[in-house]
Amino acid sequence: MPARTPLSAERLPLTHPDYKYGLARNPYSAKLREFPSLAYSDNATETYAGAWREKFGIPGAGRELHVEIGCNTGHVTRAWAAENPEKLYIGIDWKFKIIHRGAEKTAEKGLRNLLFFRANVERLRFMFGAGEVDALYLYFPDPWPKKAQWKNRFLKESTLREAARVVRPGGLFHIKTDHDGYYEWMRDAFAKVGDVWEIERETTDLHAGNPDAGKLEIPAVTLFEKLFIKDGIKIKSAWLRRRG
Ligand SMILES: C[S@@+](CC[C@H](N)C(=O)[O-])C[C@H]1O[C@@H](n2cnc3c(N)ncnc32)[C@H](O)[C@@H]1O
Repeated sequence: MPARTPLSAERLPLTHPDYKYGLARNPYSAKLREFPSLAYSDNATETYAGAWREKFGIPGAGRELHVEIGCNTGHVTRAWAAENPEKLYIGIDWKFKIIHRGAEKTAEKGLRNLLFFRANVERLRFMFGAGEVDALYLYFPDPWPKKAQWKNRFLKESTLREAARVVRPGGLFHIKTDHDGYYEWMRDAFAKVGDVWEIERETTDLHAGNPDAGKLEIPAVTLFEKLFIKDGIKIKSAWLRRRG
């Protein structure tokens, strides 16, 4: 048996040896191949960990890399990418069809500073190298409201620690949720990771005092956020700063 090369402390294996995405039967899995340099899927999202800046349509060295988790078709990420052509963006979602739609719209617009990952975000730590990401965004993750479902919630102590590994010291993790119970759960998790994340700001009513909140447009608000604001639901939000 060949000797294993020791791993540097800063570098995890490119793909986890114990994990492979299953064979996808979704028709949009094949259609995603229409955008080989724009949309990465399944194990391919773990192939360039630590080197994503080289995979954009523009030279990436020295540019900020921003990553949105649960980006849907990338309505927010696409707007950011169009507004900030000097920065790099990656949108992650696990639905094939909406990632295909996001890639289609990105190609139509000719944006070269945006990539999409069709992936399970539980794999975040294998997608990026240590400190590769400048800012991470998680907007309105599924709240899994019933107690029996809480185990499915993405935001928890372990994922905050994994996020801290991929975000550079001084980098940002911005979170928004409509769900009171999930926000309390998040706060409990924040309290356990004070060694790696500092809570820079938090609010339980992001749009308080703004009579025109209903008129806010993407990317200041997400598509889900627009609906929540319309229904009078208060948006809970936290800005975490990576210590170090
Ligand atoms: C409630 S939607 C919010 C979408 C968008 N952020 C917004 O605010 O309009 C949650 C999104 O997260 C995605 N999602 C849920 N679980 C995921 C997972 N494990 N990995 C990747 N994406 C996931 C869903 O497909 C969906 O697009």
